[in-house]
Amino acid sequence: MPRVLKKIVRKGVRNLFGVDVVRARFDEGWAQERDYWLGVIRDFYRSTYGVELDPAQTDPSVIPPLETIVKVQRANKAERDAFFASGYRGALAYQAELLDYGFPVDRTRNILEMGVGFGRLLIHYFPFKASLYACDVTPEAVTWTRARHGHRVRVDLTAGEPPLPYDDGMFDFVYANSVFTHVACEGVRHWAAELRRIIRPGGFLIFSVLDANHYLRDIPYRDFHRDYQSPGCRDWDQDRGVRMRNYLDRGFLFSTWGDYFRVLELRSHYRDQSHLICKREH
Ligand SMILES: C[S@@+](CC[C@H](N)C(=O)[O-])C[C@H]1O[C@@H](n2cnc3c(N)ncnc32)[C@H](O)[C@@H]1O
Repeated sequence: MPRVLKKIVRKGVRNLFGVDVVRARFDEGWAQERDYWLGVIRDFYRSTYGVELDPAQTDPSVIPPLETIVKVQRANKAERDAFFASGYRGALAYQAELLDYGFPVDRTRNILEMGVGFGRLLIHYFPFKASLYACDVTPEAVTWTRARHGHRVRVDLTAGEPPLPYDDGMFDFVYANSVFTHVACEGVRHWAAELRRIIRPGGFLIFSVLDANHYLRDIPYRDFHRDYQSPGCRDWDQDRGVRMRNYLDRGFLFSTWGDYFRVLELRSHYRDQSHLICKREH
């Protein structure tokens, strides 16, 4: 079967049934992965912080229906096992990175998730004492997340451009998962300045990017050369508004964000977006 047809079939099956055929070839499936990461995150919380999971972290009622999910995410996230498996894995990655740089999550006072979607990652901060804030540009995401978690998170509908409705130096930690993959290249510097403004000196910013590592596994060499070996920042699918994706190469990331933060690391993750780990030094 030609590669392009394979890609269409794979995407169609994934969107219709929430099953990724390539994953199914490699892995046991989302249910096993969910159980695996649930065990890992439970042990991590107990051994590192001496806390137990919050009930929301295993409660299927935190998952919106399919028609709501698809407003901002892949259809497979409406499936309970995929929602939780990817959420445990993702939240663990951010929290382990903070810990690696000497900032355990139980020492944070105010945390913001930019582009929160439906709170898939944010619920994993519920066991801690920090005040939680979330913002998103998609009204359906804000409505859902506010209705479901508004009693423990302040959720704001924000614009696609800065400023954000937060005070200077208000946050110890800001993270954005799969959000800068939707921000146009020319907007990146404005966001870097704005995020620096709302993070206190000594605070952290971590966000995910689609770097070469992510798609290395299943693209043709010509696309790899065009998309990942050309320097800078590249917008794709511009017509599709907030759903466009961009590629931010290593040099672009370090030089652009490095004007506003100390860029500590670009860390790869297993079959997921890489994380740029930044610290506001002064
Ligand atoms: C792929 S979803 C990820 C949602 C969530 N972070 C997660 O990992 O489950 C991307 C989210 O970013 C939001 N978004 C895109 N651009 C944004 C911006 N400039 N400011 C805030 N949110 C944005 C979208 O509305 C969407 O909810």
